[in-house]
Amino acid sequence: MKDVHVGVIGLGNVGSGTLAILNRNSAQIAQKLGFGLKVTAVCSRSVAGLDLADVPGDAMRTADWRDVVANPNVDIVAELVGGRGAAREMIDAAIANGKSVVTANKELMALEGADIWDRAIVSGVNLAMEASVAGGIPIHAVLREGISGDRIAAIAGILNGTSNYILTEMERRGDSFEDVLKEAQALGYAEADPAADVDGYDARSKLAILAALAFGERIVPDDIFVEGIRRITAQDFDYAHQLGHTIRLVCSAQRTEKGLILSVRPALIPESTILAGVKGAYNAIWVKGEFGADTFYYGRGAGPHPTGVAVVSDLMRVAREIRSGSPERVSPFAHERLGEYQPVSVLLQKRPYYLRFRVDDRPGIIAELAGILASKQIGLEAVLQLPCDTKNDLPFVITVESSPESAVREAVEQMSKLDFLREPPLALPMEPPL
Ligand SMILES: NC(=O)c1ccc[n+]([C@@H]2O[C@H](COP(=O)([O-])OP(=O)(O)OC[C@H]3O[C@@H](n4cnc5c(N)ncnc54)[C@H](OP(=O)(O)O)[C@@H]3O)[C@@H](O)[C@H]2O)c1
Repeated sequence: MKDVHVGVIGLGNVGSGTLAILNRNSAQIAQKLGFGLKVTAVCSRSVAGLDLADVPGDAMRTADWRDVVANPNVDIVAELVGGRGAAREMIDAAIANGKSVVTANKELMALEGADIWDRAIVSGVNLAMEASVAGGIPIHAVLREGISGDRIAAIAGILNGTSNYILTEMERRGDSFEDVLKEAQALGYAEADPAADVDGYDARSKLAILAALAFGERIVPDDIFVEGIRRITAQDFDYAHQLGHTIRLVCSAQRTEKGLILSVRPALIPESTILAGVKGAYNAIWVKGEFGADTFYYGRGAGPHPTGVAVVSDLMRVAREIRSGSPERVSPFAHERLGEYQPVSVLLQKRPYYLRFRVDDRPGIIAELAGILASKQIGLEAVLQLPCDTKNDLPFVITVESSPESAVREAVEQMSKLDFLREPPLALPMEPPL
């Protein structure tokens, strides 16, 4: 059977990893497919200065992406540039020219993916985006096909490797957020501007894509409550351990009677739970199905080769569909078929909470805080204070019984006005064990 031809736009981390795999694994890929995947065009603005040892000698090399999407010798375009502006233009032009698209672009797919899919359907081409969430973990394939017969009740995941690395290093060494972040930046694990990672926005885009797939809803990042990890201290880990828990940036999507509750936020999770064992830059996704119960997926969330495997596997799937002429493509955005559960506010969520205070010590503090909790019908569970030699910046923790987030937020707001507090209380939900 004739080879399927691939054009790659973007030759950075993911682009170079993809090309390396296509080149070095070409014989196995051809054996598995029954035909070859051949790179016929590559593009980056600085293409002239790049070492392109993994690109076939006869492939077109260009600095203008329009040459790739217009090339009649390209069947599938891999958009590995990122961002929303130029990447959207590239994808639209490729689809308009009748080419299928494989992308790793979570930001674009989370915001505009459903619209792009609609265009792909009209043009009769495919759109695949396995690499956009959790790099090397084939979670799209799992939700789209592997467990698509189940009815998903909940997803909980660790979807940002940088913030997970920072949290687990703070936990391991007892260092501050700022120190570990600086070190992660020096090692190249964190960007110079770390906001997308540590403030939760990168993970939020990924959760939007996963939740759309899992629940068949049109979900955009704004539907998801987001809070980053900047306020977590090494001491929070000490208190969490006292409670048999640890702290992770948890991406959560839960089907409730009221609708879907979606959040990306630091949370206490029991040390006994499988998610607590996810350390460093690894990602993991736990999925609870109504019939199939629990399944768990773990692996590298980023990096040229793990992400490249996801891109190449998508290229293979799309190439098979091109060769077999299959009209039955599975939407990565199932919103047009289900639409049973709309996203609702996280304020409706009920959880036990961990409240951490930093105060100037004086008599009556606990009574005053307990009074506010009681006025919101929040039951106090425990008060913890680890030994500390300062009186003017004293940390301690109150845990409360399962309560609505709305009540906890009102209490925290009222507490924030108290003059003995050195900063607003930190409120973290305590997730139930898996
Ligand atoms: N890095 C990872 O591990 C990872 C994991 C999962 C998903 N992703 C996603 O994969 C995508 C690529 O990420 P990356 O880490 O590979 O980024 P990267 O290393 O910055 O590479 C981006 C590439 O795009 C090229 N480019 C930018 N604008 C262009 C334009 N207008 N025309 C042609 N080429 C252009 C850049 O080269 P020039 O400047 O020379 O044009 C560069 O080669 C992003 O959507 C990212 O979110 C990355």
